[in-house]
Amino acid sequence: MEATKLESPSTLAVVIMAAGKGTRLKSRRPKVLHEIGGKPLLAHVIAAAGRVAKPEDIYAVVGHQADRVKAAVAATGIRFIDQPEQRGTGHAIQCAREAIAAYENILVLSGDVPLIRPETIESLWQFHLSQQAAMTILTAVPDDPTGYGRIVRNAIETFEVDAIIEQKSLMSDQQDLNEVNSGIYVFRTAPLLAHLDQLHDRNANNEIILTDMAGLLRSAGERVVAIQAAETTEVLGVNTIAELVALDATLRASTASRLMAAGVTIFRPETCVIDADVQVEPDTVIEPFVQLLSNTRIGSDCLIRSYSVIENCTLGNGVLLRQSCILTDSIVADGAKIGPFAHLRPGSDIGKDAHVGNFVETKKAKLGAGAKANHLTYLGDAEVGEGSNIGAGVITCNYDGVNKHMTKIGSGVFVGSDSTLVAPVTLEDGSYIGAGSCITKTVPAGSLAVGRSRQITKEGWATARKATPKSKQ
Ligand code: UD1
Ligand code: CA
Repeated sequence: MEATKLESPSTLAVVIMAAGKGTRLKSRRPKVLHEIGGKPLLAHVIAAAGRVAKPEDIYAVVGHQADRVKAAVAATGIRFIDQPEQRGTGHAIQCAREAIAAYENILVLSGDVPLIRPETIESLWQFHLSQQAAMTILTAVPDDPTGYGRIVRNAIETFEVDAIIEQKSLMSDQQDLNEVNSGIYVFRTAPLLAHLDQLHDRNANNEIILTDMAGLLRSAGERVVAIQAAETTEVLGVNTIAELVALDATLRASTASRLMAAGVTIFRPETCVIDADVQVEPDTVIEPFVQLLSNTRIGSDCLIRSYSVIENCTLGNGVLLRQSCILTDSIVADGAKIGPFAHLRPGSDIGKDAHVGNFVETKKAKLGAGAKANHLTYLGDAEVGEGSNIGAGVITCNYDGVNKHMTKIGSGVFVGSDSTLVAPVTLEDGSYIGAGSCITKTVPAGSLAVGRSRQITKEGWATARKATPKSKQ
């Protein structure tokens, strides 16, 4: 995505705090790699940051399982800062000291606050500039503020904040404070750096906490202001699995709403699992209990019936996907009919108006336009030309126990039911395979190949057998 750098004379770096372990998730996986909407929390935050800054100006502070976190988002091109020991959010920024010194302002994001929208970051930034503040805090008033740091507003000045008080440090008369800190801030770098060493861990959290910076700057006569986010959901953090799945549901609901607003019919959207980056064209109908995952793209006028799971696939226009199909890393062209109970494994490429019917499995298989494999078939490492018909129960024997081999089927070929095609093997254009054949050699164009034992018929044999007592059989 092209970064539309925030319009301002000031330079801006983004620091994403992502070093924490996420103890409250009770998981071996680092918190920021837990997923919502099919993508790690950190990837969502980087995507939002990428809308306001170039990758080289985005820094993620990493610590707990740093290598794993870095590897997961390396492709974004952002930079990393190590925080080997996680001594708190203030300490995370202390570790970033050198990296941020060259910038006039820094935007601090939390790796566990994934639904933040670029528009909100933009308003926060504009507000920060217009207020000429040293620290601008993004806040919200959620239904339940428990666990969040609370904002203590200055009673006299409208936007001024006196302090942020963490949950554990709330005095009895502060329990009612309901405006919470989102963990998202913009700082003017100079005053931040001037006071950074004054942060300490002598507090109820026993950590060096960035939230203390509000009070510190305020005491030093600097301007500390707060602005509320337009939507509370976008500043909610993930600290527990329950919060993770709640944000996942929120994100998926908004993805479904986005698609419906663009003309896609999704019946019972609350039953569908649609990843954040999925795209669907208008006039496609999605039935209940469908999963559209990863970078799936679906054209217009498709019908996606219930219980199908489509991961990282591209479907053209007018595709009919009957119930209970599993499609992964595959392409389906316009007008194709798939399923029910079809399994398109990675590398399947189903041509225009082709049919892949029930209990058919494909893998690295290219079916030409109008080709049909309607029943109980395995097509692996195969090419099937235009208009060819693959009968019921046909198997490509692609694996010899060591290597995989190709089966090439030309156009207009008829493969009779229950045939086994022992790869590598070629069935040239217009050839015809008798049912029940085991084909091991090239079948030339226009030929008939039959590879099966001849039928023996013994007239009267069964009747005679029935008449014979069991002991004499
Ligand atoms: C923090 C804020 C709280 C705010 C809430 C919003 C502090 C002290 N408190 O609390 O006021 O309401 O976020 O969600 O900042 N991290 C590091 N290094 C560390 C510790 C944390 O990088 O040493 C990272 C974490 O990975 C996480 C983020 O900082 O992504 C926030 O840390 P977390 O422990 O979740 O803070 P909260 O308790 O949620
Ligand atoms: Ca948090």
